[in-house]
Amino acid sequence: MIIMGPDSLLLRLACTLIVVFYLVKKINRALTVRQFKQTHGCLPPASEPRKDPILSLDALPGILHAARHDGILNYLQAAYCRNGSTFLSSFLGSNDIFTIDPENIKTMLAVKFTDFELGEKRRAAFHPLLGNGIFSTDGAQWEHSRALLRPSFTRTQISSTEFHERHVQSLIRNIPRDGSTVDLQTLFFSMTLETSIDLLVGETVDSQHSASDDFAEFAKHISHAQRMISLILTFGVLSKLHCGSGFKKSIRVVRGFIGKYVRKAIQNRTSLDAEKQQRERYVFLHELVQDTCDEARLTDELLSILIAGRDTTAGLLSMLFYELAQRPEVWERLQTEVGTLEGQLPSFEQLKQLKYLSWVINETLRLHPIVPSNIRTATRDTVLPVGGGPDGKAPVFVSKGQNVVYTVYAMHRRQDLYGPDADEFRPERWATIRPGWAFLPFNGGPRICLGQQYALTLTSYTTVRILQTFKSISNRDPGPWKEWLGLTMASKNGIKVSLVPK
Ligand code: HEM
Repeated sequence: MIIMGPDSLLLRLACTLIVVFYLVKKINRALTVRQFKQTHGCLPPASEPRKDPILSLDALPGILHAARHDGILNYLQAAYCRNGSTFLSSFLGSNDIFTIDPENIKTMLAVKFTDFELGEKRRAAFHPLLGNGIFSTDGAQWEHSRALLRPSFTRTQISSTEFHERHVQSLIRNIPRDGSTVDLQTLFFSMTLETSIDLLVGETVDSQHSASDDFAEFAKHISHAQRMISLILTFGVLSKLHCGSGFKKSIRVVRGFIGKYVRKAIQNRTSLDAEKQQRERYVFLHELVQDTCDEARLTDELLSILIAGRDTTAGLLSMLFYELAQRPEVWERLQTEVGTLEGQLPSFEQLKQLKYLSWVINETLRLHPIVPSNIRTATRDTVLPVGGGPDGKAPVFVSKGQNVVYTVYAMHRRQDLYGPDADEFRPERWATIRPGWAFLPFNGGPRICLGQQYALTLTSYTTVRILQTFKSISNRDPGPWKEWLGLTMASKNGIKVSLVPK
């Protein structure tokens, strides 16, 4: 007979109590969820088949294969084709909802904005590079960043076409006139780095300068760091196997580059404040230093906006010229429209009148959304309006802490929303369609892109000036288009074309 001492009796009692407490909590939670689902009429959405219930690694081979062959976007689109427009998928223990239902996306981003946040998965991925900048914060900190930033995008600022002309001139100078091959994507990325620095820091950098070691290093490492973030978002903890010291070095180089501007602004803080009344332009960094002298925080904000300003617009211009290089009929129609300007530099108002150009830009953003996929996390138990039940029409329950991935790339290619030719580049479709939340290149709701008007003006202006300078364009890339995914999307092989001057 074994006689237990008082210590082991206590231990047993404590263990039993913990198990009972855990079970009661679980049962209580299950009952609350059941009640919540009943009240809101929720039904489960379709679910990706799953054999591994613990680590949920079923999807790993498919995702690895897609990543190796630069086909993540098509992989995601195929998943929606298999499962419908809202479905559940588990990967590495995270049971995420995937959706391309415009009503669900509108609910998350606008109607129930406070029921969702950027979430831990995204914060963890973005934080090493972007710290607590606007792209990795929620709540009061995000509101503060946004309020600080908004004045930079007033109409006067974005409509200053002299600002754009300066930068576009240096881009055009770098396009060869002898018909030899040029990678337009590289030139667009240099130009948008220059425009962003001008806009945010108030300093002009010419393209000669941007070819210097500092700039080249910055450009290389910012792309590498973003690529690593995209891997962390896709592969979670497994990405640690791949993102090692290279990631840390890229972060150091990139933050060091931005840090130089920040330190200079902090040093000149007093004189900047005194000059403020005389300055016509709002310079983001000059305003920020009046608010805080915290170097890390300033670097976080500035770097976030620099990435937002550089990569997105360069990606859009690149994909637009990729399409133009394959479509002489679209190029010719644009030439006719731009001809109405009679060779004059376009004003902001004139750019707005170029209807066909706006269709071409919309069609580019539809087929090639520069932010192709995004994620939010529920802050409380909540409901998405559609996607549940066998017909996908019932509301769907979203548990507190659950991630919802929305894939704008796949939504923009839905045949039931855009017609049977949804995969084709056809700008003319914009004469009749008004897709509402089914077209979401700039996000929506309170976190809608702040730079939308600025980006569209710069894209239109650059396109018009290239059309005014060159009479034809031809594709010089023999291979199929391949995606490059960082925080935004670009072309892995660049955009190789040749242009013939007028
Ligand atoms: C074609 C060009 C652009 C596209 C397609 C685009 C797209 C987007 C998207 C999809 C978001 C939402 C991101 C998220 O929820 O995680 C966003 C946010 C944002 N964008 Fe853009 N963007 C473009 C250009 C720009 C430019 C040029 C700037 C600034 C110079 C800018 C500044 C911002 C900022 C500050 C936010 C954060 C808004 C917030 O969280 O409150 N964007 N953009």
